[in-house]
Amino acid sequence: MSFEQRLLSWYEKSKRQMPWRKKDASPYEVFLSETMLQQTQVEKVKGYYGRFLARFPSLSDLAEAKEEEVLKLWEGLGYYSRARNLLKAARAIQEKHGGSFPEDKESLLSLPGIGEYTSSAILAIAFHKREIAVDGNLIRVFSRLEKEGENKDKKMKEKCRLFFLDRLKDADPSDFNQALMDLGEMVCLPHGMPHCHECPLSSFCRSKEDGSMLSYPPKKEKNIRKVEKRTVLLIRHKDKILIRKRPDRGLLASLYEFPNYEGFLSETEIRDKLSGLDIEGIHEIGKGKHVFSHLVWEMKGYEVAVKNRDISDEAWISKEKLFKDCSIPSAFRFVLRQLM
Ligand code: ADE
Repeated sequence: MSFEQRLLSWYEKSKRQMPWRKKDASPYEVFLSETMLQQTQVEKVKGYYGRFLARFPSLSDLAEAKEEEVLKLWEGLGYYSRARNLLKAARAIQEKHGGSFPEDKESLLSLPGIGEYTSSAILAIAFHKREIAVDGNLIRVFSRLEKEGENKDKKMKEKCRLFFLDRLKDADPSDFNQALMDLGEMVCLPHGMPHCHECPLSSFCRSKEDGSMLSYPPKKEKNIRKVEKRTVLLIRHKDKILIRKRPDRGLLASLYEFPNYEGFLSETEIRDKLSGLDIEGIHEIGKGKHVFSHLVWEMKGYEVAVKNRDISDEAWISKEKLFKDCSIPSAFRFVLRQLM
């Protein structure tokens, strides 16, 4: 049997059920699922995908959405620029392409947030075109099959793309691509020993011959993340909580947050920061840690009860409204837990 036949017959037997894996998935459904799946595990995406589609069943529904609501549905998935770009792309498709997804690479690439991977995934999975959507899974499978040690990202991606394109003959490109993704996620594992005994491609695999699977793909130098200490405040006045909106650019742009400050502040320093408020009491509520792609926040939280506030200030909101309408990044989960 050929490479392609082995891969596809394994996929037929072993493929996972996913809500977006259905016959005739629309380009919008593929766009949404593939965007959510970037940097996020399949299991986590399933619930988000269902809720998002229930609220915005079609591209035109999404194009009319308010950014706030889209971000709220994204809350907890991380990498929020994906959500903002999704909305911008939906609007651009409405305006420039009459509401239909373009079917060529160049037009797809010109849309916000759509890069090599997503454009190829839409073309292959929704339009069944001969494209390869190269992600980390495909690179791992390819570099192990070929003992490919290329350490330049861009070159590795291109070699990988050409390798699989050459082996995609008669299969449906949608199945071919998703079979490779599943193989990478379930058999040719990213961590720990790959399950070579289950692999339909093991007879084609060069690294399996000499047991060098774990040496591929070559390890990248780890980027060292900067560590930042922060003090986070849950400030309460009766049944209201003080929140603020983050700037519309940069880290966690436009999301809401609890007031927080650089460094681990002492009680006196916290009182100084809140000099306009009449403080009734301060107590520690524990610690949190959040790892971003380039940065780590180590956080200490305090609950601060206050006796006065400016009643007209809209930043004071109820717990119910906070949970219903505001997207609070998961970095602050350890504070949100206090409210549950
Ligand atoms: N990872 C990203 N997209 C995927 C898909 N369509 N199927 C399986 N894993 C994936």
